[in-house]
Amino acid sequence: MTTTSDERRRDEGDTDFGFRRVRQEDHAGMVSAIFDSVADRYDLMNDLMSGGLHRLWKQALIDWLNPRTSMRLIDVAGGTGDVALRALERVASREGAMLDAVTICDPNYAMLRVAKRRAIDAGHLNGVALVCARAEALPVTSRAVSACTISFGLRNVTDRMAALSELHRVLDMGGHFLCLEFSPSVMPMLASLYDAYSYRVLPWLGERVAGDREAYQYLAESIRRFPDPETLAGEMRATGFGNVSYRALSGGIVAIHSGWRV
Ligand SMILES: C[S@@+](CC[C@H](N)C(=O)[O-])C[C@H]1O[C@@H](n2cnc3c(N)ncnc32)[C@H](O)[C@@H]1O
Repeated sequence: MTTTSDERRRDEGDTDFGFRRVRQEDHAGMVSAIFDSVADRYDLMNDLMSGGLHRLWKQALIDWLNPRTSMRLIDVAGGTGDVALRALERVASREGAMLDAVTICDPNYAMLRVAKRRAIDAGHLNGVALVCARAEALPVTSRAVSACTISFGLRNVTDRMAALSELHRVLDMGGHFLCLEFSPSVMPMLASLYDAYSYRVLPWLGERVAGDREAYQYLAESIRRFPDPETLAGEMRATGFGNVSYRALSGGIVAIHSGWRV
């Protein structure tokens, strides 16, 4: 029996980087190089490439999270702080107060630097902790947080099961985990338009606006390599989450998964 080189590399513990198989030890550096390159244009690119839709998807995430002042929240793969700052704003506008504790965690200094600037501009410097770490090894005590979010981050980790285990470990009993991520399960009637957009327009926009075509080529490819919502729900159950459910948004372009520490 013959094995393909892809199968051989899968056996040897390699991992996907878009459509390429790369060595596990190279993956984190390759992902990091992308976010080093696009950090300063990241938020602008999100608005341009999604036509502002990412704001609605993040609002839906925050609606489901339902942040309250007593919440201890960690936003993993928090990037430029978009989700954490939205959670803070939601509590401030509803209760006129701060969340008890908010941590933005990300392994990329360039992205965290933008998060820090945004937190200062929004007047939240003292209320937000910035932590530089990967989802697979969170420097957080077990059961330390009551809520944990990851938005457009799980697709980028090197070892998804290790990341899910960590996200479960840091949650307190009764704590809530939410994941917002692109999904490969787009409605069939949208599929060809979506393919054309993601393989042609996205890399073009990436080159024009962020000066990095490959970063947005990687985005399009990594979405196709990400598990479908039902498979991801199974992975969450396998790492210990209970009451797992999910919702697809915008014709299946993204999905929000929810799980609890029970
Ligand atoms: C597409 S951005 C998402 C940022 C933000 N959560 C948002 O929704 O706008 C992906 C983030 O994942 C981070 N990342 C990459 N590898 C990671 C890992 N192993 N663990 C945690 N975060 C990672 C990147 O540095 C980047 O900031």
